Amino acid sequence: MEEQDLSSYRKVYEKRELLTEDTPENPLELFRSWFLEVDQHFLEDETNAMTVSTIGLDGFPKSRVVLLKRYTYEGFIFYTNYESEKGKAILANPNVCLSFFWPKAERQIIIKGKAEKIPENMSDGYFESRPRGSQLGAIVSQQSEVIESRDVLDLNLKALEESFTGKEIPRPEYWGGFIVRPVELEFWQGRPNRLHDRIRYKLEDNYDWTKERLSP
Ligand SMILES: Cc1cc2nc3c(=O)[nH]c(=O)nc-3n(C[C@H](O)[C@H](O)[C@H](O)COP(=O)(O)O)c2cc1C
Repeated sequence: MEEQDLSSYRKVYEKRELLTEDTPENPLELFRSWFLEVDQHFLEDETNAMTVSTIGLDGFPKSRVVLLKRYTYEGFIFYTNYESEKGKAILANPNVCLSFFWPKAERQIIIKGKAEKIPENMSDGYFESRPRGSQLGAIVSQQSEVIESRDVLDLNLKALEESFTGKEIPRPEYWGGFIVRPVELEFWQGRPNRLHDRIRYKLEDNYDWTKERLSP
């Protein structure tokens, strides 16, 4: 393959600024105001798509995109298969990193936190709210396992669809939510001349948030 030189790819960041005096004491409030602005003003396609990085059983970090489905002062919730590669990684090591990149707003947020399973009744509630197709998909997919072919997946889905005709589909116990309780959040706002704004919050004694500006 012929090599491709990307050294002239360069973008000027100039849409917003992030000043310490404008930031709230609680980083979740800043997360919320950035999220809403990105979603409603910058019209990002999938504002709730985030990268979740885990430390795998093989010792390597691995990152993949999942969808944020809820956030509160407690943390950030996403849904997945608990027996997937990420599910097993989290159960062995709950330290994870979430990150959001919103190019239209020239913003990035990086969150370190500890993941844990949410209560089963909460996962039940969300599973019930999903379309039938997604519910069946969650059952049919042994996420992250090797499969023989696409056809196997389609045939299994068809068989499952028939067996559940007219019936409610129960949540499989291996599928549910994780909540990531944050310990550190870093907000990055692109600025001209690569002199970007970075504000980092850290949780002290499980209670108070401290705030610092980082050099770009
Ligand atoms: C935009 C987007 C959204 C996704 N949302 C989810 C999700 O909410 N939950 C999930 O388990 N996988 C989701 N995936 C698939 C994951 O990126 C990944 O392929 C899958 O979870 C298996 O990862 P693992 O083998 O590392 O566990 C999404 C992928 C993309 C590109």
